[in-house]
Amino acid sequence: MKKLLITIDGPAGSGKTTVSRNLAEKLGYIYVDTGALYRGVAHEARQNGISPDDDAGLERLCAHIRLRVIKTDAGTRLYSGDTDISDRIRTPEISMMASAVSARPVVRQALLDIQRQLGAGKNAVFEGRDMGTVVFPDADIKFFLTANLNTRAMRRYKEFSEETNQAFEEVAADMKKRDENDASRDVAPLKPADDAVFIDSTNLSVEAVVAEMMGKVAEKTQS
Ligand code: DC
Repeated sequence: MKKLLITIDGPAGSGKTTVSRNLAEKLGYIYVDTGALYRGVAHEARQNGISPDDDAGLERLCAHIRLRVIKTDAGTRLYSGDTDISDRIRTPEISMMASAVSARPVVRQALLDIQRQLGAGKNAVFEGRDMGTVVFPDADIKFFLTANLNTRAMRRYKEFSEETNQAFEEVAADMKKRDENDASRDVAPLKPADDAVFIDSTNLSVEAVVAEMMGKVAEKTQS
């Protein structure tokens, strides 16, 4: 059977990660959260005292860091070298720093090859901001998943507030700022690909979104 590459782009809190994981599981495909790679670069930059606007520093960093996506019994984990950094990259500081480093062309270029290699010849679901527009413009099925800001912020708040101690208003303000950064940057801004299927998940359950996506996959595999 033909190998299918499915992309899911959208803003923070749109449900991309949960939906991508469920869809990949249902289909028996691999799943790649590309935001985790940007978070990994942000984490390492922070560890090494490199500021997000230091292009030379970021370029050197990207040339030597070794980010690895590893499937374990505890789920998919992100390693930098031999250190599991999966939990450390989920803080509000790293979210904001990831958004800042992801606007730098040196970082995007470095991650482009890694992402394409991860997807080459595989049945895969890739989620991010520019999967359907830049990284995999020839993907077999492209989705753009969104929801209104209030709903997305509430999802993030419920998921992480215990660990981060952030008030809802702070979560919403951070998310709005990150949306603006990610959508207004010059390189690979967040936007739907021309041929993407647009899904607004504001009033949809995860199951309903996945069902809609499965419908598109069925159409594609039967055509
Ligand atoms: O999906 P996420 O919230 O984990 O992503 C963190 C940041 O990384 C996000 O603010 C923008 C950036 N990112 C990107 O620019 N391109 C991608 N393909 C994925 C994430």
